[in-house]
Amino acid sequence: MRLLIIGGLQGQIGAATKIAMDRGAKVTHATDIEQAMASLRGGVGADLVLCDVKCDIAQLVRALAAERICTPVVACGIGTDARSAVDAIRAGAKEYLPLPPDPELIAAVLSAVADESHQMVYEDEAMNAVISLADQVAGSEASILITGESGTGKEVMARYIHRKSARADKPFISVNCAAIPENLLESELFGHEKGAFTGAIARRVGKFEEANGGTLLLDEISEMDARLQAKLLRAIQEREIDRVGGTKPVKVDIRIIATSNRDLADAVKRGTFREDLLYRLNVVNLRLPSLRERPKDILALARHFAHKYAEANGAPFRPLASVTERLLISHPWKGNVRELENTIHRAVLLAQGPEIAPEAIRLPDGTQVGAGNSVMSNMPAPVKAAVEAASAIATRGLVGRTVADVERDLILDTLDHCLGNRTHAANILGISIRTLRNKLREYGQAGLAVPQPGEARAAG
Ligand SMILES: Nc1ncnc2c1ncn2[C@@H]1O[C@H](COP(=O)(O)OP(=O)(O)OP(=O)(O)O)[C@@H](O)[C@H]1O
Ligand SMILES: [Mg+2]
Repeated sequence: MRLLIIGGLQGQIGAATKIAMDRGAKVTHATDIEQAMASLRGGVGADLVLCDVKCDIAQLVRALAAERICTPVVACGIGTDARSAVDAIRAGAKEYLPLPPDPELIAAVLSAVADESHQMVYEDEAMNAVISLADQVAGSEASILITGESGTGKEVMARYIHRKSARADKPFISVNCAAIPENLLESELFGHEKGAFTGAIARRVGKFEEANGGTLLLDEISEMDARLQAKLLRAIQEREIDRVGGTKPVKVDIRIIATSNRDLADAVKRGTFREDLLYRLNVVNLRLPSLRERPKDILALARHFAHKYAEANGAPFRPLASVTERLLISHPWKGNVRELENTIHRAVLLAQGPEIAPEAIRLPDGTQVGAGNSVMSNMPAPVKAAVEAASAIATRGLVGRTVADVERDLILDTLDHCLGNRTHAANILGISIRTLRNKLREYGQAGLAVPQPGEARAAG
């Protein structure tokens, strides 16, 4: 993490700097706001700005916004002077850090403000294949195109490749091409000279130069207009860029990773994306499967997020109940990993008791995931149970799974829906009670949770 500290380095801020460096932050220092802005324009870059409350925080926040430098600001000052803390937050600081510095607090601020937990969690075979391809090409200089539905982890993958590359200790810079207005994207990427256009108050180095030696992630590349596509192509081919209003090209050494959740080949056909640029970017294509295509990752990720959000919220860790796990597996997850992550975050906050129960698994509007619709609620209970068990399995997809695997899910889901009643479940499944009992004993011995009579079922 790159930390920019503004203020005198004597005394307590100096001590805070040392703690941050011990925690692995790369620290640059500016004595005042002007010097800080000059260093940011010059391409030093920062993930977090720590500013003495004695400086004019509001002016700093305005200056950053005016030049579209989106770096969070944390104010720091001696003691817990409530007045200056409140003023700093009002002025736009994200946090207030009291001095003398508490190492734990600094570590917490560093990790909370600039979330560095870009850990890649995976277990499913479908993901193993993508990861081994990523591992294979990470060390090369090849441009990589990462595609996949929204929320499948394209940015997580880009950071993973950077970490595994020879450029790991150089900057990883990401630019969201869809989020920046078209007329500003050029200067954002390539920088500008003083006076290049109205508002260009000083020379500003662009993301290409800021990322020099490292990796540049061009997020949602399909949103780039034709003129910029041409300029990007030149930058990749010639390894040099032209600042807006600049007179001579600047050499850059960049590894490009691009992402898109649109089909770029299709965009080429429609004439909105340059074919030669696509070939340049798409030396290697990593397609991230949707979460629905990697059912084993659902649980691996859900467990990971249950830990992560318990810790982040200072809540006790609660494991997912086994009925909850089965409910999660059967949900369609249209928003992919992001939707799962938000759902588990909510569940961690809603959960009571020793485990995360299915009731805590809610949609954003508060309704319970898996709650039956009205057609279903009019069905006789055994029919409804069978339909639900079968549909839970259907949504999971059958291809690629073994018969034993599917059979186990069908039996356990049906038993769940019958509140653990063996006789009902055997009737619905069309097998004898003896066969059912034998199967259940097998599952119990394999360490699976088998619903006991009267036990609450997964979905309503
Ligand atoms: N394999 C993974 N392990 C852990 N967390 C993940 C993984 N994949 C995605 N996430 C988490 O899910 C969220 C979405 O991931 P990310 O932003 O990388 O997706 P994306 O494909 O870039 O989404 P979008 O298309 O909306 O830009 C993030 O919070 C990320 O941390
Ligand atoms: Mg993204």
